[in-house]
Amino acid sequence: MFRSVAPYVGKYKIYTRLAVVAMVIGIVASVVPYFMLYQMLGPLARGEALTWAAIWPRLLVIILCEIIYALSYAKGLSLSHYSAYHTLENVRIKLQGKLEKQSLGDIEDLGNGRLKKMFTDDIEQLELLLAHAIPEGIANMLIPAIIIVVMFISDWRMGLLSLIPMVIGMFAMSMMMKAGMAKMDDYYRSGAEMNNTIIEYVNGMEVVKVFNKDGESYKTFGEKVMAYRDFTLAWYKECWPWMALYTSIFPCLCMFMLPVGSLMILHGSLTLEKLILVICMSFAVGPSFLKALNFAGKFPQLDYKIAELEKLMNHEPLKAGTNDFKGSSLDVSFENVHFGYEEEEVLHGISLKLPQKTTTALVGASGSGKSTLAKLLIHYYDIKEGKITIGGQDITDMSLEALNQQVAYVAQEQFLFNTTLYDNILVGNPTATREQVEDAARRAQCMEFLERLPQGLETQAGDGGKMLSGGERQRIALARAILKDAPIIVLDEATAFMDPENEEKMNAAIAEIVKDKTVLVIAHRLATIKDADQICVIKDGNCIAADRHEALLESCEEYKKFWAATQSASQWKIGGATC
Ligand SMILES: Nc1ncnc2c1ncn2[C@@H]1O[C@H](COP(=O)(O)OP(=O)(O)OP(=O)(O)O)[C@@H](O)[C@H]1O
Ligand SMILES: [Mg+2]
Repeated sequence: MFRSVAPYVGKYKIYTRLAVVAMVIGIVASVVPYFMLYQMLGPLARGEALTWAAIWPRLLVIILCEIIYALSYAKGLSLSHYSAYHTLENVRIKLQGKLEKQSLGDIEDLGNGRLKKMFTDDIEQLELLLAHAIPEGIANMLIPAIIIVVMFISDWRMGLLSLIPMVIGMFAMSMMMKAGMAKMDDYYRSGAEMNNTIIEYVNGMEVVKVFNKDGESYKTFGEKVMAYRDFTLAWYKECWPWMALYTSIFPCLCMFMLPVGSLMILHGSLTLEKLILVICMSFAVGPSFLKALNFAGKFPQLDYKIAELEKLMNHEPLKAGTNDFKGSSLDVSFENVHFGYEEEEVLHGISLKLPQKTTTALVGASGSGKSTLAKLLIHYYDIKEGKITIGGQDITDMSLEALNQQVAYVAQEQFLFNTTLYDNILVGNPTATREQVEDAARRAQCMEFLERLPQGLETQAGDGGKMLSGGERQRIALARAILKDAPIIVLDEATAFMDPENEEKMNAAIAEIVKDKTVLVIAHRLATIKDADQICVIKDGNCIAADRHEALLESCEEYKKFWAATQSASQWKIGGATC
């Protein structure tokens, strides 16, 4: 466990070492008072009188030692925390670096909840290891070990007797850890299930309310919360007896020394003075030892979290090259592309050419694989077989930055950052001037709704862009892509049908963005389909035909059906709008 964290500690190792030294000094100071106690009681055992002259210097030493203990322990903790929080920073930065190299799809599949937990809670747990378990654990183990050796030297029989409770305590502790480890997987699974249900419950509240599913939804929520409660209680029930045994036994190392030692005194084989010495020492050992072992009790959880982190850190990165874009043109070519999200294949060997500065529309039933194909062009995932090239250069040969410079992607669902609309558009090109941002907003037909907003471009988009309507969000996303001005555009149209006014605005915005570009558009609307240079019909993950609108109407049954459905739906919509 320590070895896997060590690379992240890096140059801060020295602070952890200094923390150990400071804490060892503190612990040494903390046991001296017990020795002073022995020195004060020793004369009594010998039948001598206890004088004030013998007491006050020892009292002074005790006070001094307590001050040293407090100061060095505090210094140790501050050094260990300094090292720990720099290490946490390193781990988070490293994890972020790893995530950057993963495919966007894999990150999406991991889920926001798990990633957030990983970045915050799980990494934070390393603080316990670095700031406490290592320095405090070492210091609190080292000193008891030395004292026990001293006990053996002063009287080996007493040394042996002090070991008996220790062995019983360690046995109890190992039993507790065994029970803990056996249930660790189930414990985390049960916690994760509860978290997911809570997130789903909160996210789906709108649907739940609209469809009057309060009772059902609350039932699942309640069941998961109760299952977690029951599981945790059952787990603790198994651990509690062992925990109670070792926490009560460690501070009582004199448990056997006291009766056996008294008998030995009666038989004359031990002096009272020596018994007082070893008992005073045993008082010093117990609390330190217990503290050190308490950290050991946390190790199974830490081990588990570190393993989870390592799994993510070692996840296979996206196969992205480091080269610049050096394609000979802006022709895009999909060659025998096979892809599946998990085991099952979704795209079955698609081949398609997008000639430079032409528009290709993808049409097909819902779930046929259109968005998947579009995402592959921006290297959202690695493909299983085949290749995708731009101007003859494989997209896996170029760096993600180089690919991103060539391609602008407008997704089916828009994400806007919770900042101003201006900043949201600026994401397309952070070096753009205010005039350029305003021009992009105008060309994306955003002015009509921006003028309605009192703060215009300075309006906050809200969480995920919730302050805007779907159509408005899409137009802000188009403005972003216009500002980016990449030569290849991938456009996943958001909704099949819009109100006529919005549709007109969208057409105008799209016309602005596609000018002189190589375009791949997932088309739901008549205007985009009909005028495209090429229409590719996708059916169950296959490209079954690719041609112009008129030609496809002649040759492709599937397209004919699709076109007829699109037209009738459109007429229905126009009829509906004019009512
Ligand atoms: N992240 C994912 N993980 C697993 N399967 C997925 C994922 N995204 C899509 N799929 C599956 O892949 C198939 C193709 O989905 P895709 O989103 O490409 O369809 P589409 O043609 O864009 O549909 P629509 O017109 O409804 O947007 C579907 O069967 C879908 O269930
Ligand atoms: Mg789609």
